[in-house]
Amino acid sequence: ERLPELLGIMPKAELHMHIEGSLEPELIFALAQRNGVTIPYASVEELRKAYAFTNLQSFLDIYYAGASVLLTEQDFYDMAWAYLQRAAADNVRRAEMFFDPQTHTERGVSMATVIGGLHRACVDAKTALGVDAALILCFLRHLSEESAFETLEQALPFRDQFIGVGLDSSEVGHPPEKFARVFARCRELGLHLVAHAGEEGPPAYVWSALDVLKVERIDHGVQSTKDPALMKRLAADRIPLTVCPLSNLKLCVFPQLSQHNLGQLLDAGLIATVNSDDPAYFGGYMNENFLQTFAATGLDAKQAWQLAANSFEGSFADVAAKKQWR
Ligand code: ADE
Ligand code: ZN
Repeated sequence: ERLPELLGIMPKAELHMHIEGSLEPELIFALAQRNGVTIPYASVEELRKAYAFTNLQSFLDIYYAGASVLLTEQDFYDMAWAYLQRAAADNVRRAEMFFDPQTHTERGVSMATVIGGLHRACVDAKTALGVDAALILCFLRHLSEESAFETLEQALPFRDQFIGVGLDSSEVGHPPEKFARVFARCRELGLHLVAHAGEEGPPAYVWSALDVLKVERIDHGVQSTKDPALMKRLAADRIPLTVCPLSNLKLCVFPQLSQHNLGQLLDAGLIATVNSDDPAYFGGYMNENFLQTFAATGLDAKQAWQLAANSFEGSFADVAAKKQWR
C-alpha cells in the first residue's frame, strides 16, 4: 500500500501548531536543569505519564507548567529549532507557528527575549532547512482584554517579526466578542487574523470569530458540522479550518479517531487542513497526524492531495512562494 508513503513525502504546510506545545519532556528537563528551575515531576517518564487528558483545560494546566522552564533567548531558539528540524523531516515546507507571549511575560521574561529567539530560529530554518517559517502571536483568552492590549503594545516594536495574531487557551466561557476591540486594532495594523473557535465551544463562537473578529481562518472549527448554515458560510467564503486530529482525540473532542469529521468537512467543500497543534503532548507531528487519521477514517490519496493543496492555499505565504509549492 503506497498511501502511507504518499502522506509522508508530499510537501505540506503546517498552519496550526503552538511552539510551546512542541517542548518534548526531554527538552523540558534539559532546560529546567540549565536554568535551575524546579518542576513537580521526578523524571521524563513521570512527566510523560501525566499526559492523560480528559478535556482542553486538563491539558492547558500541564502545558503552562511545561513552558515555565523557558527563560532565555537561547531557550526559545532551541525549542523552535527542534520543532523546525522535525517539521522539515515531515516535508513541511511552510510552518506558521503560534506563540503565547503572556505565558512568558507574566513570569518576567521580556517580549524581546521571546520573539528574538523564535524569530532567529525562523531565519535559520529558511537557509539551513528550506522551511519557510513565520510567527503568529496568540492572545490568551482566559486573560483580560486589557492584558491583550498590553501584550500587543509590547509586541509592536517587533511588528516585522510576526505576521498575525490569534486567540487560544480556554475556549468555553471566553467568546470571541471579549476581544473585538483588540482584533479591530490588529486589523488596522495590517496583521493577519485567526482564532481558535469550535474546538470545544459552540458554532456560535465560530460565527462571532468570523463576523466580530473578522478572522481569515478558523483554528479547529470541528464543531461547525452541527450548524448547516455555518457550513455553507465557511464553504462560500473559502475560510480555511486548521484541523488537528490527534489533538481532538487526546482532548476527547472525538471518542475515537475513526469518528473524526475531517472527511465530512472535505466532502462539504471546506478548505480543511491537517495540523499537529501541540505535537509533544498529543503523540505526533504532522506525518503522524496524517498517517493515523487516514488509517482510522479511510480517507484516500485524492483527499491527501486535497489536504496538501488546502494547506498551501490557506497559508499566509506570499503569492510567489505559493506558486512554487503548487
Ligand atoms: N493552546 C495550546 N493548544 C491549544 C488548543 N488546542 N486549544 C486552545 N488553546 C491551546
Ligand atoms: Zn491550537
